[in-house]
Amino acid sequence: KLCAVIMAGGTGERFWPKSRAARPKQLLCFTGKDSLLRGTINRLQKWIPVENILVVTTEKLAATIELHLPELPRQNMIVEPVGRNTAPCLLLAALHVENKGDPVMVIVPSDHVIQQNDRFVSIMKAASSVAAASDVLVTIGINPTSPETGYGYIMAGQLLTTEGGARIYSVIRFVEKPDRLTAEKYLAEGNYYWNSGMFVWRPSILLSSVQEYLPGITKKLPQMRRAVADNNQELMNACYHDMPNISIDYGVMEKAKNVLVIPGDFGWDDIGSWAAMERIAPADADGNVLVGGECLNINSENCIIEAQSKLVATVGVKNMVIVESEDVILICPKERVQDIKSVVNQLRLTG
Ligand code: GDD
Ligand code: MG
Repeated sequence: KLCAVIMAGGTGERFWPKSRAARPKQLLCFTGKDSLLRGTINRLQKWIPVENILVVTTEKLAATIELHLPELPRQNMIVEPVGRNTAPCLLLAALHVENKGDPVMVIVPSDHVIQQNDRFVSIMKAASSVAAASDVLVTIGINPTSPETGYGYIMAGQLLTTEGGARIYSVIRFVEKPDRLTAEKYLAEGNYYWNSGMFVWRPSILLSSVQEYLPGITKKLPQMRRAVADNNQELMNACYHDMPNISIDYGVMEKAKNVLVIPGDFGWDDIGSWAAMERIAPADADGNVLVGGECLNINSENCIIEAQSKLVATVGVKNMVIVESEDVILICPKERVQDIKSVVNQLRLTG
């Protein structure tokens, strides 16, 4: 018994202004013609039939995603009234499948690329058999290559066993989005992985963790369960309305004691920010990466530029991200791309 859950309700603030509320990161194409969400479902379908794939998203994106994934049965779309981050999202997914015999849930974000699909499937199969056999929360870890602050960090303990070429470790600690200095320390220590944001567990295990660590959500559990069972949208809206906004990483993973990690060496890239475009699009002789459109650079170096309708000309500019879109121009030093989400927050506040 196995099902997959794609989390596809994020807002993708770090790719603003290419990503917008109605067109978040998971719906953008970075490599080739497929969006990240399309790539995600294609990858899962190599292994899990589409009848067993659930997509969780928000009311706001539901219609767009439905058009985007025509093969997905309508009843496999779980729609949240509003986005409350990944803890409520995964609780809701668990409530949808708990009565189907406590199947293993393979949970994946919809906003990253994976190069080696076959390796991905074999790692996820190993994770699934571990999660089927024991009461654990399985994470998939990525070998870190830099002290990124946009990721969770997983400190691996003992090697417990291996399964079909996958190594399964106990977890000593999970730290979501540490600051730069802490991330540097973890990298130097060596036994840390980045959290890929993929999880494998049975709904019963997730539900008992939520009950233990998230009292704010636990209060709503009986009502939510009823709303799911009766397909009562009004009750669900009421439950979600005052649900805390919290990610599974902060809400559960940092606190849980029954966490395991399996290194996922399948060419993972979460394209976490504009800076990641350097890994995806080619650079010219001066290190400038043109993501799209037309630009003219004179003595400019190491810039990332995307133009939509205008010619972007730069003179003597270094290490900048410059994005021209329909109604917005973004100019940001490369080392501050993580702060682009503050612009989005500010705009949201001021309308
Ligand atoms: N349905 C639904 N509802 N989906 C959501 C919501 C929500 O409210 N919020 C986020 N998502 C989806 C996003 O679309 C994405 O696919 C996934 O859940 C993860 O959310 P992000 O907002 O992209 O999280 P992050 O990138 O900051 O951090 C997570 O991923 C990192 C790796 O990419 C964490 O798990 C980190 O620990 C991890 O390193
Ligand atoms: Mg993400």
